[in-house]
Amino acid sequence: MKRYAVAGISNRAIGMFIKPLVREFADVGELVAVLDKDALRFQVLKDAEPKCADVPTYLDHEFDKMIAETKPDVLIVVTTDVAHAQYIIAGLRKDLDVITEKPMTINVEQAKAVLEAEKKSNGKVTVTFNYRYPAVHQKVKEIVLSGRLGRITHVDLNWYLDSYHGASYFKRWNRIRDISGGLSIHKASHHFDLLNWWIGQDPVEVFAYGALNYYGADGPMNPEKVDGRHCATCSVREKNPYEMRWKPRYNPKIGGPKDDHLGSVRSKQTKEYTGYSPDACIFDSEIKIEDTYVANILYDKGVMVAYSSNWSLPFEGYRLAINGTLGRLETQEWHSPPRVPFAIPSQQDIDVFPLFGGAKETICVLHGEGGHGGGDPLILEDIFLGPKPERKYELIAGARAGAMAVAVGEAVWKSAVAGGKKYRIADLLGEV
Ligand SMILES: NC(=O)c1ccc[n+]([C@@H]2O[C@H](COP(=O)([O-])OP(=O)(O)OC[C@H]3O[C@@H](n4cnc5c(N)ncnc54)[C@H](O)[C@@H]3O)[C@@H](O)[C@H]2O)c1
Repeated sequence: MKRYAVAGISNRAIGMFIKPLVREFADVGELVAVLDKDALRFQVLKDAEPKCADVPTYLDHEFDKMIAETKPDVLIVVTTDVAHAQYIIAGLRKDLDVITEKPMTINVEQAKAVLEAEKKSNGKVTVTFNYRYPAVHQKVKEIVLSGRLGRITHVDLNWYLDSYHGASYFKRWNRIRDISGGLSIHKASHHFDLLNWWIGQDPVEVFAYGALNYYGADGPMNPEKVDGRHCATCSVREKNPYEMRWKPRYNPKIGGPKDDHLGSVRSKQTKEYTGYSPDACIFDSEIKIEDTYVANILYDKGVMVAYSSNWSLPFEGYRLAINGTLGRLETQEWHSPPRVPFAIPSQQDIDVFPLFGGAKETICVLHGEGGHGGGDPLILEDIFLGPKPERKYELIAGARAGAMAVAVGEAVWKSAVAGGKKYRIADLLGEV
């Protein structure tokens, strides 16, 4: 029976790791301690999961005490992104295995420190890139590995966030580059990891453009330039189309689609977490990060990627095309459950087009239940039970993959800020 401690009692920690650990995986793992810098989160956890009523709690300055008193084997890091590195490194120094949420770190400097700490430790880092796990994403990997597409030459990946989910990032800490790394790291590290993993090559060069087109003080839908507003109490809320598309006029705390990123705002746990409330105004002037990116990425064995992402679109999902010397793969994801007033395909298929003769083949992938396209429950099995022995390729990610994804994300925003300057991954990260 492995002993687990959790640093950061975030929404994600409770829903993704703590509840499954004390329920479905209770016969293989024990939650021995939780740590957070905000004591209010201890109560939020106990209200959300009564089985945690007696789990010892520690504040952020009590890390060493927590380890000495509760002797965990594994540390799970689910704080805001900026604090990941500090806890990953602290865990490694105690020779613990460390499981961290993405992004592994908010910048390359922290990523290098994690790689160094891992070299000196008996512990190992796992980065929970759950986007690798949905059945469709595993199938894409298998098709590339099968050689049916030949040598991969070029990939198009366009990621779409809708005006509900996309806007949510601009209501929360995620909008501050010093806390999240900005969206090219905080969110797009998922996308860059998928690309790196699908292609099976290392990124070497990146250039990008990026802009803040929708949010921030100059957002075209900002009803008036005032800082410090919160949706629940905002006097001009009804003039903000991002709010009014999703919520009723009479009570801003109810209605709208349910999204895990904003769930706590409307739930019984609605309390101002110390110094922080996750419904800040999407038009605050402190928002400086980009909400729109295009990027080109060159890989070490020649693959060229054209990537884009946009955080304010009418619908959510992505389009992927992978081209090779023998064929092309294509797939489109539509966010599920859908938040659009038109019919969308109920099933995400993969089309494979041979380049020379033969017919297009449509592969219907069996979809799993659960968060992030069915990826969350599957990655939990690997985390708590160990990787499936019969799997023929590596699915669970380590620190190197975590660092590569961060490095691409950093190259993207730095290049965007520098007007499209080319960045080499080796110059940022060194040889890894
Ligand atoms: N893989 C995914 O699909 C996915 C989805 C959602 C969130 N996440 C990740 O999960 C993590 C948590 O995100 P969230 O939105 O649930 O966060 P949240 O805002 O609900 O909670 C963040 C927590 O971190 C704590 N914290 C901040 N600094 C700390 C410090 N120095 N020491 C101890 N605790 C500290 C806060 O008090 C808070 O409890 C983030 O890294 C995020 O990127 C991943």
